[in-house]
Amino acid sequence: MSDADARVQAQQQAQQQAKEEAGRHAAGYVTDGMKVGLGTGSTVHWTIVELGERALDIICTATSVQTHELATSLGLRVISPDEIGSLDIAIDGADEVDPAFNLTKGGGAAHTREKIIASMSPRFIVVVDESKIVEALGPFGTPLEVLDFAPGVVTSAVLALGAHSVTTRERRSDNGNLVMDAQFGSIADPVALGAALWAVPGIVEHGIFPGAMVERIVVAGTAGVHELVNDQR
Ligand code: 5RP
Repeated sequence: MSDADARVQAQQQAQQQAKEEAGRHAAGYVTDGMKVGLGTGSTVHWTIVELGERALDIICTATSVQTHELATSLGLRVISPDEIGSLDIAIDGADEVDPAFNLTKGGGAAHTREKIIASMSPRFIVVVDESKIVEALGPFGTPLEVLDFAPGVVTSAVLALGAHSVTTRERRSDNGNLVMDAQFGSIADPVALGAALWAVPGIVEHGIFPGAMVERIVVAGTAGVHELVNDQR
């Protein structure tokens, strides 16, 4: 293996370890009797594993088929959002976090269900490795869940909002819809862009989560785990 390959491998291992540390740390916010929203992805995966290991007396709802299967395989009780009704806490990952706690989500195409579950909870805790912290949302792209009726019309509307490109993923969402990624470059006002995307007929949901939804970010990296707490809510 070349030095460069070894460095990349070491970086990937460190990132995986950070994801596990952040994910497991956030499980500490869950106690017996809680109703818990479970996010989707490789970081919150470890929250779910930790919750399974602790065998707490909790009821959960899941943001994806993948998470539902993982949680039930670990012995957690998972019911639908309508059955659970409300939540005490929701925990999820993110693809980008900006200084105002705005998030990009949807790397795993689950952002519609994730936004519904996060909106059901007074406490929304986000778990990330430090590579997800950015100065401004945008480099990851903005995931869009789109009805498969007039994707070309939706694409034109998103380009008219300032996107440089819009691509469609091969895989659909768990809801059977198309998933697109729009590149807006650096996003100056994520909340305003989110509102503009909501106004496009055919967009089921976009992956911008306003910072007002977020209680805290659990960040793990080379210096261990720390938390960013959103005092502005
Ligand atoms: C799925 C998401 C995930 O939370 C996001 O993609 C982060 O994933 P990971 O923890 O694997 O980096 O929004 O739709």
